[in-house]
Amino acid sequence: MCGIVGYVGRQSALDVALDGLHRLEYRGYDSAGVAILDTAGALVIERRAGKLVNLDRALAELGPIPGTTGMGHTRWATHGGPTDQNAHPHTDCLGMIAVVHNGIIENFTALRDELERQGHMFRSDTDTEVAAHLLEQMLRGRLAENGADLAAAFTEAFRRTCRCLDGSFTLLAVHRDLPDLMLGARRNSPLVVGLGEGENFLASDVAAFIAHTRDAVEIGQDEVVELRADRVTVTDLDGSVTAPRHYHVDWDAAAAQKGGHPYFMLKEILEQPLAVADTLRGRLTADGAISLDEERLSPQDFRYVDKVFIVACGTAYHAGLIAKYAIEHWTRMPCEVDIASEFRYRDPVLDRATLVVAISQSGETLDTLMAVKHAQEQKARVLAICNTNGSTIPRESDAVLYTRAGPEVGVAATKTFLTQCVATYLVALHLARVRGTLFGDEIGRVVEDLGGMPAQIEKVLDTVEPVRALARELADSKSVLFLGRHVGYPTALEGALKLKELAYMHAEGFPAGELKHGPIALVEDGTPVVVCVPSPLGRNTLHGKVISNIQEVRARGARTIVIAEEGDDAVLPFAEHVIRVPRVPSLLFPLVATVPLQVFACELALARGLDVDQPRNLAKSVTVE
Ligand code: F6R
Repeated sequence: MCGIVGYVGRQSALDVALDGLHRLEYRGYDSAGVAILDTAGALVIERRAGKLVNLDRALAELGPIPGTTGMGHTRWATHGGPTDQNAHPHTDCLGMIAVVHNGIIENFTALRDELERQGHMFRSDTDTEVAAHLLEQMLRGRLAENGADLAAAFTEAFRRTCRCLDGSFTLLAVHRDLPDLMLGARRNSPLVVGLGEGENFLASDVAAFIAHTRDAVEIGQDEVVELRADRVTVTDLDGSVTAPRHYHVDWDAAAAQKGGHPYFMLKEILEQPLAVADTLRGRLTADGAISLDEERLSPQDFRYVDKVFIVACGTAYHAGLIAKYAIEHWTRMPCEVDIASEFRYRDPVLDRATLVVAISQSGETLDTLMAVKHAQEQKARVLAICNTNGSTIPRESDAVLYTRAGPEVGVAATKTFLTQCVATYLVALHLARVRGTLFGDEIGRVVEDLGGMPAQIEKVLDTVEPVRALARELADSKSVLFLGRHVGYPTALEGALKLKELAYMHAEGFPAGELKHGPIALVEDGTPVVVCVPSPLGRNTLHGKVISNIQEVRARGARTIVIAEEGDDAVLPFAEHVIRVPRVPSLLFPLVATVPLQVFACELALARGLDVDQPRNLAKSVTVE
């Protein structure tokens, strides 16, 4: 989830681009760069790995770059590590064209092979660079066909380039000899236009130009923008002019970094459908295999795995608990889940046939890293599930699957949890395929179910308002209990963790069947008890058992809050509040049931006047043991 800003106007393009990048840095901070068309006719590019401050320093040393057309990029790395070389903007062979990109070009390998065959020289590991070379190639062809109108040829070449790209992109491009023109396009990735007086802006988020204008234009799917200081033209990929929607932004620059949301956590909760869709994108290859991002293990290595351990901390550990159900069900292999900080001290039995799956959003959690190292010392294979490209845990592992949730600024994990669950389902399917415990068509069906999940999560988000009201009503509670069975149990644990860390409130998650063995003593008159109810259509008798558990706590005075799927009326007589979630396959239940729990914790914390983005005593990345 990179940040992009473009400017054509009358001010210093460098100043506008840098200011915009600072407002967009929440989107990614692996590297940053700018391209400016300077007044001497040069295309000046400066880029640096690491946070924006590194680019600021480099530009300060370089001195002013006069020019009124330019673009900037702040990167959240997907393809290629976070290095200077992989930082955007990227250029064509001759350094005449510069592009910046957000998204994933799924067919970049095939495009790159073809372009290399045609003699193009690549200088980075990114998917983005193919767009620069493809544009160069298309422009050459267009000029050969139609002669000398460079602006028209460049624009048409840009449309043709976009038509060749699969996947998602926001793409901006400039040409050295067209100092008054910038082109932009989008597919499944954001791009907005800001309209000024004698100046216009392009950005992935209005935050980038909100200090200059609040008049914006929404760019549709597969539309191309020609941006000049005095006009903006929007066409489709065939060149027909379209009529995009204009709108006025009704929030101010201060809120901008949060993309218009009052706090990051809410923004990140709302991003979950997209984060899940991105994590799934392009994972299933034509022959039914699941594609990992980095695989230093052979299919043979996977085939000989006879046991899986999952190591992780906090929320990632809960994703691991959910994964256990999928792995054991689909692969018929035993799977143990360990809190990473405990793993190496209990002397687990590991060998070459053990696969250790390390789950970590940051990729830097020291407890998890030490568990990985211990596993490797014992000759086990390690597969990392991680959200941060270039971080330590994936680097140390034998295989990696990246969750593509984008940067998560709120300290409490939300969208990364859902994407971790999705990634573990993919790993389970991968293992099932190489071990032959599921056939290709069965895997295809699960992948199809997973593909429908972004829409289901969207549905939950659309109907979550009553959960907010309920959270406000319960803000003064002393303690909240969470119950579940099967995958509903780790879902309950995650609901309790969110409430603890955000609302500083006593909250506990239990397996619903365990309650009667002790924890039921905690229930007193008015204690809110949240129960995750499995589908009545499940293969076993779990549903009926959980209904009995609800009755047990209700008989002792609990206020029962029930998360149940649409159409499950059996819960109605025993539930004080029912939160509905869509019907989904049992193993995928946490993907819909966790969302109201996140909203509940967030709203309850806000009602208690707390900072939900930076809860006390916590840090986003925990690099001490
Ligand atoms: C809770 C939370 C933490 C992290 C844990 C692991 O909301 O964010 O519990 O899940 O610290 O962090 P990563 O996933 O970066 O290893």
